[in-house]
Amino acid sequence: MEPRGTKRRAEKTEYHGDARALRYYSPPPTNGPGLNFDLRDGYPDRYHPRDEEVREGLDHLLRWLLEHRDQLEGGPGWLAGAVVTWRGHLTKLLITPYEQQEGWQLAASRFQGTLYLSEVETPAARAQRLARPPLLRQLMYMGYKFEQYMCADKPGGSPDPSGEVNTNVAFCSVLRSRLGSYPLLFSGEVDCMAPRAASTQPPTCYVELKTSKELHSPGQWRAFYRHKLLKWWAQSFLPGIPHVVAGFRNPEGFVRSLRTFPTMEMFEHVRNDRHGWSPSVCVNFCAAFLSFAQSTVVQDDPSPMPSSPRLVHLFSWEPGGPVTVSVHRDAPYAFLPTWYVEAMTA
Ligand code: A3P
Ligand code: MG
Ligand code: MG
Repeated sequence: MEPRGTKRRAEKTEYHGDARALRYYSPPPTNGPGLNFDLRDGYPDRYHPRDEEVREGLDHLLRWLLEHRDQLEGGPGWLAGAVVTWRGHLTKLLITPYEQQEGWQLAASRFQGTLYLSEVETPAARAQRLARPPLLRQLMYMGYKFEQYMCADKPGGSPDPSGEVNTNVAFCSVLRSRLGSYPLLFSGEVDCMAPRAASTQPPTCYVELKTSKELHSPGQWRAFYRHKLLKWWAQSFLPGIPHVVAGFRNPEGFVRSLRTFPTMEMFEHVRNDRHGWSPSVCVNFCAAFLSFAQSTVVQDDPSPMPSSPRLVHLFSWEPGGPVTVSVHRDAPYAFLPTWYVEAMTA
């Protein structure tokens, strides 16, 4: 945890190679009193938000990779053919065919065969973040506050909503998978694990938590299935998180009902909807992009040592347009840290 009470200073989060930040799913008893989670409680005095000016890139994931590369099944040969990135970047790629508002930029570098992808904040996203209205800031807090009502620190324990909401602390799981013909190694934040799940094997035991406005009319549900469920599906499908538990909040910010959405059943809600989304369209776009990136970024860099990794292909996309690519060297786009390159080369 970061020291409190100090002046705002760019402070990086700490890496711990263990599950100390993992929390345990602990929903309220179904036979208890009616649900009434006040998501505004504690805002802003018991809120310790992450400093969004600090861009940590792939650093924590690279640290994990460095420590575990000898245990990877398939060895260095497997890693050399893989794409390494954050789950959140893949989520953005998956929903691209349906995205009409926000573009993205992904920086790519090849090193010892492996293709590393790291998101770059677009100027528009940065401007939006800096101008984020107070209500939206509170809404962000409310999503995290919901997690606090639903999770305990120990298996079988009870949630403690009296504490601070600290978004500097997160548990991330590292997974291997493949999309199209490309092996993937990626990491994503996991909200909690269900200690009483049918299987205690990750990722089957993981649960994703979400909040949404209370929905009343069939039209509101339709819009929810078209837009929100697409994002929820894209986030949980790749890591194989089987359940998303949603808390529905009323206009006063109280969660009065919960509903579980099995990830693999989300598509059923839009299967017969002309304006719905399709998992295969998402997966095909993502696979096509990875294939394009693999064939575009040919040169393995850094070479020669001891320079830090310098060559970056920047892939950019804006709604309605094609994916474009530009080539850069060094700052500000180079993202593979020297400590990583040196340790991998040693
Ligand atoms: P909700 O999902 O309930 O909106 P995650 O769901 O991925 O675990 O993220 C936890 C919370 O972080 C979200 O809760 C939301 O409040 C906030 N959050 C995550 N990504 C965000 C984004 N791109 N913009 C705004 N808030 C975000
Ligand atoms: Mg989360
Ligand atoms: Mg969540």
